[in-house]
Amino acid sequence: METTLLILKPDALQRRLAGRILARFEEKGLQIVGLKMAHLRRELVEEHYAPHRGKPFYENLVRYMTSNPVILVAARGRNAVRVCRSLLGATFGYDAAPGTIRGDFGISKSMNLVHASDSPESAERELGLFFQGYEIFDSRPADLEWIYDPVEELDE
Ligand code: CMP
Repeated sequence: METTLLILKPDALQRRLAGRILARFEEKGLQIVGLKMAHLRRELVEEHYAPHRGKPFYENLVRYMTSNPVILVAARGRNAVRVCRSLLGATFGYDAAPGTIRGDFGISKSMNLVHASDSPESAERELGLFFQGYEIFDSRPADLEWIYDPVEELDE
């Protein structure tokens, strides 16, 4: 099982889409193992988006991400990083395929509703930035045997 970081960005909350967006991940079979709301400090956003520092959109991105509260989510599942990225769709809403979160709810370039870590290494780094160890919960979902094949998958 892999755990990844999702950030429901300020536009998701301002547009009252947080519940519907979170439902997409739950419906897929991902388990929410951490969740909190925060108004992010600039330093934290700068650290999170350090790989983008210096790019033309960087300042605007930091301003947007610190403008209003966000919801931070730790989501767990098999190949969670890849699965969550595919649920999001392409970075820009106007490119994102219908059926994806960005494809269904957004049309903007920078206001793209949700962030999801782009690799297992990024997930580990980003989860460490936003969550303390005790804020991630290891409870076993009661329906796990119906989300994954108990013989083929849960024994691995
Ligand atoms: P996210 O998945 O959070 O990762 C970096 C963010 O930067 C991205 O979503 C967008 O919000 C933003 N971004 C990436 N590329 C561009 C771009 N070319 N112009 C504006 N914003 C961008």
